[in-house]
Amino acid sequence: MSDPSFELLRPWLQNAPEPTLWLADENLIGSRLHPTPSVTMISNRLDLVDAARAIGWRADWSDFDLSGRADGSVARIVYRVSKEKPLVHHCINEAWRVLRTGGELILSGDKSEGVKGYLDRAKKLFGDGELEKVSGNCWRGRFIRTEQTGTRLDDREYEQLRPACRDQEHTFWSKPGVFGWDKVDKGSAFLIDHLDDFVAALAAPPDRILDLGCGYGYLTLKAARFGAPIVATDNNAAAVAACRRNIAEYAIDAEVVPASCGEGIKQRFALILCNPPFHAGFSVEDDLTERFLDATARLLETGGIAGFVVNRHIMLERRAAGRFRRIETLAENGSFKLVLLADAICPESRLFP
Ligand SMILES: C[S@@+](CC[C@H](N)C(=O)[O-])C[C@H]1O[C@@H](n2cnc3c(N)ncnc32)[C@H](O)[C@@H]1O
Repeated sequence: MSDPSFELLRPWLQNAPEPTLWLADENLIGSRLHPTPSVTMISNRLDLVDAARAIGWRADWSDFDLSGRADGSVARIVYRVSKEKPLVHHCINEAWRVLRTGGELILSGDKSEGVKGYLDRAKKLFGDGELEKVSGNCWRGRFIRTEQTGTRLDDREYEQLRPACRDQEHTFWSKPGVFGWDKVDKGSAFLIDHLDDFVAALAAPPDRILDLGCGYGYLTLKAARFGAPIVATDNNAAAVAACRRNIAEYAIDAEVVPASCGEGIKQRFALILCNPPFHAGFSVEDDLTERFLDATARLLETGGIAGFVVNRHIMLERRAAGRFRRIETLAENGSFKLVLLADAICPESRLFP
């Protein structure tokens, strides 16, 4: 499925002056583009960067960090606005800083995402700009950098990690751009409330734990009470940074591995905890679920168990069938359910049951 707002940017990526930066977030999933040598794609999601590199794009994985780019050094920036306002403001501010005189920022987005407000604010910062409603609710803006100075947009210090929320035991460092960055997710808290029920299914306390899709590290911090080494993994650069900060803060025996769906992780784990992502912009959600389940089946040691929390309407049990011999719904509340997965079926035997 392609994203109409992103489609408005295609021509600006295809005939791009050197150097052009393409700030890419999850909305572009499903759009295939031939690489342009003058363009560097920058994304906070490792899977997008890997996919872009695989088809020949130059691509950097970072939390939209342009600090390595000198003022006035870039010819064009192409950006389809992200979901989070502080991130969008950060990208517009940084675009203004790094663009050279005569350089241009091309922005697009949908009315429901507040694109009109972003275009108006960018126009103020740049001093002028062309705004057009291209189709339906999709808008595009073009802003040329001049010598004129403008007022930076309020990005709530996007770059900084900060103490973002707390519960009785922990203060969690996080930032905009991380999943549920300023709260404890209710599903994850439900999983932790029942953690002992999951662990009771193991023959011994877990000796190695995986937090799959760790975000800022809530599950890692809570699972640290078992004293087992933890691997926390996520594909989002902001999440990886926040999780590392929380691990350091509480001196936890854990490492954070940037990876898409645990790819490249070689160890196996007695306990895997996961609150999987089911809503990823324009991506095919089912595919992401399947990939998280595949990773779990691959990374679970013999005798190990996985604890998943999902929205109670999601048919996780059905999707897990064929990958695990043991699938149990351990608890349910009005919103979420907790599913235990164990006894993974190796991919070869799935074909010949
Ligand atoms: C529902 S959140 C859970 C976050 C965290 N475990 C918590 O409980 O607060 C799902 C996490 O999966 C991550 N994620 C999304 N797609 C991913 C992928 N392809 N590979 C690895 N992690 C991914 C997101 O960045 C997000 O942090």
